[in-house]
Amino acid sequence: MKGPATLQTPRLVLRRPRLEDAEAIFARYASDREVTRYVGWPVHGSVEDTRTFLTFAETEWQHWPAGAYLVFSRNGGTLLGSTGLSFETPYRAMTGYVFARDAWGQGYATESLRAMVDLAPACGIRRLYAICHVDHASSSHVLEKCGFVRETVLRRHTHFPNLAPGEPADVLSYALSF
Ligand SMILES: CC(C)(COP(=O)(O)OP(=O)(O)OC[C@H]1O[C@@H](n2cnc3c(N)ncnc32)[C@H](O)[C@@H]1OP(=O)(O)O)[C@@H](O)C(=O)NCCC(=O)NCCS
Repeated sequence: MKGPATLQTPRLVLRRPRLEDAEAIFARYASDREVTRYVGWPVHGSVEDTRTFLTFAETEWQHWPAGAYLVFSRNGGTLLGSTGLSFETPYRAMTGYVFARDAWGQGYATESLRAMVDLAPACGIRRLYAICHVDHASSSHVLEKCGFVRETVLRRHTHFPNLAPGEPADVLSYALSF
C-alpha cells in the first residue's frame, strides 16, 4: 500500500512535504544548531539546503511506498517538525524525528512516531528501526515509549556532522518487527 499523503493523530496532522515548505522548514528547525545537534545531516546553512532535502524527499516518495512527513499542529496549523519512513528495501525502513525547539516536551515526537509505527506494516515494512546517539536520552525514551526494542550498541557507527567533528560515535540500535 502507498502511504497516505496526509495522516491525522489526536493533536497533529502529518503530511507529505512539498517544495513550497522549504522556508518554513528552514526557519522552524533545519537551521537551528541546537535542534540538529544529534541528527545525521548537516544543519542547513541556507534555504537552498532545505530545497535539496525536499527534492530528495520527493524522489523517495516516488520510488517507495512512503517517505518523509511534516508534522503540523491540528490546532492552528503551525509546522512543528518532521518524521517519516525511510525505505532501504521493500521490507526494511528507518525512522526518526526532529522537532522545533518550542515544540519539545509536549509528547509530539511520541505521537508522531506512533503514527509511523501504525503505518509501517500497511506499507509492507517488516523491520522498522532507529538509531540514536548513546547520550541522547530523550530520543531513547521516545523510542521505548513507542515499543521499540533496544537491540545493541553499534560502536563507532555514525558520524554526527553537527557535533564536534571527528570520530564516528557509538549509537543505540532500536527496532520493531512486524
Ligand atoms: C528528541 C525529540 C524528538 C523529542 O521530542 P519531544 O516531542 O520533546 O518528545 P516527547 O515529548 O514525545 O517525549 C520526550 C520524553 O523524553 C523525556 N525526556 C526529556 N529529556 C530527557 C532526558 N534528558 N533524559 C531522559 N528522558 C528525557 C521526556 O520527559 C518525555 O518522556 P515522558 O513523556 O515520559 O515525560 C526532540 O527533542 C527533538 O526534536 N530534538 C532534536 C532532534 C533530534 O535530536 N532528533 C532525534 C535524533 S535521534
